Amino acid sequence: MENSENTPKKVMLSGIQPSGDLHLGNYLGAIKNWADRANDYDCYYFMADMHTITVRQNPADLRRRTLEQLAQYIACGLDPERNTLFIQSHVHQHAELGWVLNCYAMFGELSRMTQFKDKSARHTENVNGGLFTYPCLMAADILLYEPDYVPVGEDQKQHVELCRNIVQRFNGIYGDVFKMPEPFIPKAGARVMGLSAPDAKMSKSVPEGCVFLMEPPEDIRRKFKRAVTDSDTERCVRYDPENKPGVSNLMTIYSAVTGRSYDEIEAEFEGKGYGAFKPAVGDAVIETLRPIREETQRLLKDRAYLESVYRAGAEKASRVAERTLRKVYKKVGFLAK
Ligand code: TYM
Repeated sequence: MENSENTPKKVMLSGIQPSGDLHLGNYLGAIKNWADRANDYDCYYFMADMHTITVRQNPADLRRRTLEQLAQYIACGLDPERNTLFIQSHVHQHAELGWVLNCYAMFGELSRMTQFKDKSARHTENVNGGLFTYPCLMAADILLYEPDYVPVGEDQKQHVELCRNIVQRFNGIYGDVFKMPEPFIPKAGARVMGLSAPDAKMSKSVPEGCVFLMEPPEDIRRKFKRAVTDSDTERCVRYDPENKPGVSNLMTIYSAVTGRSYDEIEAEFEGKGYGAFKPAVGDAVIETLRPIREETQRLLKDRAYLESVYRAGAEKASRVAERTLRKVYKKVGFLAK
């Protein structure tokens, strides 16, 4: 949707890497909070395919997952008529602004990024330059569209903060070029932990503790039944992340999918113990994901439609991105064509 000239809408933007199949953490931490915003915001959501090659990918799988992710965005409620949905590599301005911003991010601050430290420890054979400067490309993704809010899960907050540092540094030199973006972190679901090891965030790299959006219901049910709960003796459903991380994580998931508060959940399962609670969370998740899975499968059969969506998305995104890039090129002193 275009901003009306009289009442400019605020802008929202976010992206997900098509590096693996989407999971419940991506859904609750990010996508769920993107839908239904189009009335109030001008929304841009993209598949961050350029970010994924910081880790080696199978090219055919990357193509398949990128298209699947687009279908999932739509199935999760992002209407392409009201949200700009696009693929990062289709909008060349991301790479171009990313290069400029590389020159305004400091080695020290990039070295402190948790995601860089984690990934370079996990992929010791491939600690490449892209992995290190990744936050500069992410800052470009954001700043090209001048968003007010960037809805992400807790783990991406550090990258948005680095983007804010870059804005401050750049604007300090050249004047008011970039708008300062704010991270927008959900109350429930900002950090969904793994079901098999609730001391680490849910991630595709630990598949037994990760619930994928396209997973069959029986597999989801089994994962929740096997979810690690806590070894305390009281075995009651009570929110206490410090002493009961497993149960508290399940409560967070249940709260995010049902909208119930922790007090309401405690009351619902009073005297029932973990044996009743775990399958109930599984069932609630299955019912939330069922329509998303079915709609994704339906959309994937219509490739021409998906292509029309990402083409129109890239066209709109490029127009906005080009405006920002021109402004930046002028400010840093590049001669106009
Ligand atoms: P990515 O692809 O790792 O994750 C996508 C989104 O899902 C959220 N998320 C979670 N939220 C709650 N619990 C979890 N266990 C969990 N796991 C993932 C992430 O916080 C994120 O919001 N660098 C980004 C992608 C990106 C981006 C951007 C985001 C590229 N450019 C510009 C916003 C704006 C990333 O790797 O997210």
